[in-house]
Amino acid sequence: MPLDRSTPPPLRPDLLDLPPYVAVEPVDSIAARLGIDPTDVLKLDANENPFGVLPAVREAIAQANYAVYPDPAQARLRRAIAAYVGAPVERIVVGAGSDELIELTLRALVAPGQHVLTCSPTFGMYRFLADVHRLELDLVERREDFSLDLDAVLPRITDDTALIVLPTPNNPTGNALSEAELEALLATGVTVVLDEAYAEFKGDSFIPWMEDHPRLIVLRTFSKWAGLAGLRVGFGVLPEPVADLLLRIKQPYSVNLTGEVGALAALEHLDDYHAQLDLLRGVRRDLSAALAETSWIRPYPSEGNFLLCEVEGGDGAALYGALAQQGVFVRFFADHPRLSSTIRISMPRPDQLPTLLERLRAAAAACGLV
Ligand SMILES: Cc1ncc(COP(=O)(O)O)c(C=O)c1O
Repeated sequence: MPLDRSTPPPLRPDLLDLPPYVAVEPVDSIAARLGIDPTDVLKLDANENPFGVLPAVREAIAQANYAVYPDPAQARLRRAIAAYVGAPVERIVVGAGSDELIELTLRALVAPGQHVLTCSPTFGMYRFLADVHRLELDLVERREDFSLDLDAVLPRITDDTALIVLPTPNNPTGNALSEAELEALLATGVTVVLDEAYAEFKGDSFIPWMEDHPRLIVLRTFSKWAGLAGLRVGFGVLPEPVADLLLRIKQPYSVNLTGEVGALAALEHLDDYHAQLDLLRGVRRDLSAALAETSWIRPYPSEGNFLLCEVEGGDGAALYGALAQQGVFVRFFADHPRLSSTIRISMPRPDQLPTLLERLRAAAAACGLV
């Protein structure tokens, strides 16, 4: 064995071509790049809660004793989540964001070389994690209205398909899976993972279906409705043997104490969150109506806390850039041909809506759309 101490360690060759996950750039960094005052920014690019952290949650976090480790069995938090979603505690596993639950589910149920099926356009994390774990990702295009194309999905399912993973409502398109679509997918016998990161904005969940469907898994998060994206707390509701396996293969302390305390406090203040959710659904309705009246942008229907919008003339990148100049950061997806003519706008607070509309009009004018 040659002893070479002069170069960095050799990297695993099969990982050298791994494309990175494309995440949103931090506000401070975009603002500095564009010379914009960060306090004047409307950050509407990551479907976060624009009300920020609830004061009671902030207070609970401030008081915890961070000298001790969090509970590796997540007993209190799992019990509180079980009560929140109406599922047995044995089925709940908590992770560092639902991203960790997606990864754990893939690791537990899909062997390298097996296939995972999803419908495009959709959340980019599935592609990233499938690549990292050397799984084959089968992408089936959605229909024109972004609903599932079951006629295209069903023939793509083979003996090698270990999992179907779909967000409902879907990010970035905003539409939800119908009951008939889920029935058809479950009838194939393939395990279906529903990523319900935006369930609270839709107002219902497929978790009750798990009673009759042992091959259904539902993933949820505190990142969106509970304003805790930075704390990284998500959870899965899984068939018991799968939950057991996930608990055995996960890092015991991946949910840190801040996350545990913050999520528990959030679950004690659901009335406050319901009031916020009502306001955000109102903003979604009002923004959608205002944009539908214009000649230059057309929102798709959405059940999430965001609107995917078609830019007339087709140049989503130009409007995205002009909005950034106005201090409005939205999401533009360069990686899917159907999204190149769109931008995705996360819902602001109601008091921010007039500013958003004003800056949208100014950006549209700057792009020559009006
Ligand atoms: C569909 C979907 N699933 C999961 C996530 C990630 O959530 P978390 O912050 O809980 O990892 C997101 C975040 O954008 C999402 O859109």
